[in-house]
Amino acid sequence: MAVFNSIIRFSIVKLSLLGVSVVFAGSLAAQSLDQQIAERLTPIGEVCLQGQACASGGAAPAQAAAATGEFSAEQIYTQNCAMCHATGVAGAPKYGDADAWSARITAKGFAMVVQNSITGINAMPAKGMCMTCTDENMAALVEYISGQAQ
Ligand code: HEC
Repeated sequence: MAVFNSIIRFSIVKLSLLGVSVVFAGSLAAQSLDQQIAERLTPIGEVCLQGQACASGGAAPAQAAAATGEFSAEQIYTQNCAMCHATGVAGAPKYGDADAWSARITAKGFAMVVQNSITGINAMPAKGMCMTCTDENMAALVEYISGQAQ
């Protein structure tokens, strides 16, 4: 009888231990789920408006500059186009070569030349790889690079 009793007692202890561990595991799972949700809800970035103080200090001036978006044909030409158009790589019409540019613009029309610079033509990559340039920017660039107004 005593042996039987101790077996029962042992089983009860085991059962209650099991119960505790289930509850414990449950709360662990619940906690980590909460943490996961909290992590997922953490914003990746912040939007700061011009004139507002931003939590991540340094970002504000850069964003403000991007927002005003001063487009400079000279700057983009230097960054994106000069590598080919300064020296005439792969037959690129050279910057300031009035004859080469007027031949193209006369043959195709200004709008077509702008269109080709947007889509790319032969060895000329689309938008001269200036992916932030708008179509209007490209027209301004063609005026700049060809020295001819639309
Ligand atoms: C990787 C070299 C390369 C870069 C970078 C490049 N171009 Fe070109 N571009 C060319 C070549 C080559 C041609 C001549 C394509 C042809 O007519 O066969 C060309 C032609 C052009 C033409 C004449 C298109 C026509 O229809 O005749 C325009 C306009 C032009 N480029 C504008 C630009 C502008 C603006 C940029 C910079 C934003 C730029 N390109 C960057 C290589 C380049």
